[in-house]
Amino acid sequence: MGENTDVATIHLSNTNQSVSLPLLHGTLGPAVIDIRKLYGELGVFTYDPGYGATASCESKITYIDGDEGVLLYRGYPIEQLAEHSTFLEVAYLLLNGELPSRAEYEEFERGVMRHTMLHEQLRSFFNGFRRDAHPMAVLCGVVGALSAFYHDSPDINNPEHRRISAFRLIAKVPTIAAWAYKYSIGQPFMYPRNDLSFAENFLYMMYAVPPEPYHVNPVLARAMDRIFILHADHEQNASTSTVRLAGSTGANPFACIAAGIASLWGPAHGGANEAVLKMLEEIGHVDRIPEFLAKVKDKNSNVRLMGFGHRVYKNYDPRAKIMQRTCHEVLNELGIKDDPLLDLAVELERIALNDDYFISRKLYPNVDFYSGIILRAMGFPVSMFTALFAVARTVGWVSQWKEMMEDPAQRIGRPRQLYIGAPRRDYVPLSARS
Ligand code: ACO
Repeated sequence: MGENTDVATIHLSNTNQSVSLPLLHGTLGPAVIDIRKLYGELGVFTYDPGYGATASCESKITYIDGDEGVLLYRGYPIEQLAEHSTFLEVAYLLLNGELPSRAEYEEFERGVMRHTMLHEQLRSFFNGFRRDAHPMAVLCGVVGALSAFYHDSPDINNPEHRRISAFRLIAKVPTIAAWAYKYSIGQPFMYPRNDLSFAENFLYMMYAVPPEPYHVNPVLARAMDRIFILHADHEQNASTSTVRLAGSTGANPFACIAAGIASLWGPAHGGANEAVLKMLEEIGHVDRIPEFLAKVKDKNSNVRLMGFGHRVYKNYDPRAKIMQRTCHEVLNELGIKDDPLLDLAVELERIALNDDYFISRKLYPNVDFYSGIILRAMGFPVSMFTALFAVARTVGWVSQWKEMMEDPAQRIGRPRQLYIGAPRRDYVPLSARS
């Protein structure tokens, strides 16, 4: 936080009282008004449903410039990391603030990968679910259950315990996600292989079966790794804020991440790529795009162009561009010459980007517009898409949780409200009510 000689003055016309509040400057991005003394001085709260104008914390992890379409992890542009880095190196960066030396990287990789196995008793949790359970329901339940398994490191105020919890979460969420898939199709669970990279091991646990050797396709492993990098963190989004809010009470980190998974599940957040594919399938043919866009523009229809628009990006989501490139690489590698859904997506994007409705509202493709097409081509069922997002975002959640726990200014999160309900009234006994 920078020097704060600047102030913002708030004047209340009803009481004719004023207060000067410090204006705080970060490294990048808009300054923020520190309103912590507002209630004490003027007796009022601020009103910001959806928190569109509220900074809930200081953070050094991720920076987004939504107008320019910029995303930085610890200062490094996402494009450079997606091109040159690996998911585990990005995980180290997000957690620790700097890129690792080779020795640090190798130690970190060993540290994470040696936690990939699940406690054998956790296997029986899967049997409690119906076979058709959504993988996010399984992930939410089983990750939450991890909190009951680690009694050796529950002290959230101990940095070493926090480090081990971070390793466990980053390593075990992929195993749980892959096993949720295996359970749903009735195949044996594949135990993790620590001789493989993070992304290779995930693909192995997803697609290998015991009777046959499984060779991970390096192009697909690289695409998987890149998808994980693109989804690793995204500052104070809904699920990250959920993790921070849960964590602010001192709750167990595994339970906090389960809360983040629940928050990610919704179609307005992590469920969007699933929704994009459903939408493309529904549209079915380029000829039907105008009819569909008319519905999107109709205020009474509640239909949205899924994969378009973002609370923060009012420009092309930089991750969407990388996704689009990766999409072509994967389809090439798999020899898919014509994917009708890809053709449909490209045409839909072209038309929407030239349509005044979308231009005037600054609605551009987001990360989810192309990711569904890639994941489907790689063999993932639609229901696994959000689970993959959760595998990657676990790194961001854990990094943000760790940063919060290390922040001396950390307090329990407790928003206020504008009460518009009934004023005080007296209870009327049931017998006296008409
Ligand atoms: N299709 C059509 N119209 C849209 C869309 C869309 N995808 N997104 C926003 N709009 C319109 C709204 O109707 C509104 O129009 P109006 O001013 O005429 O009423 C205007 O744009 C502003 O919309 P808001 O809902 O206020 O924007 P907000 O920032 O709250 O929404 C959100 C962001 C939820 C992502 C929204 O754009 C959306 O629903 N997109 C589709 C779902 C999606 O792709 N989500 C993934 C987000 S990325 C992620 O989580 C990884």
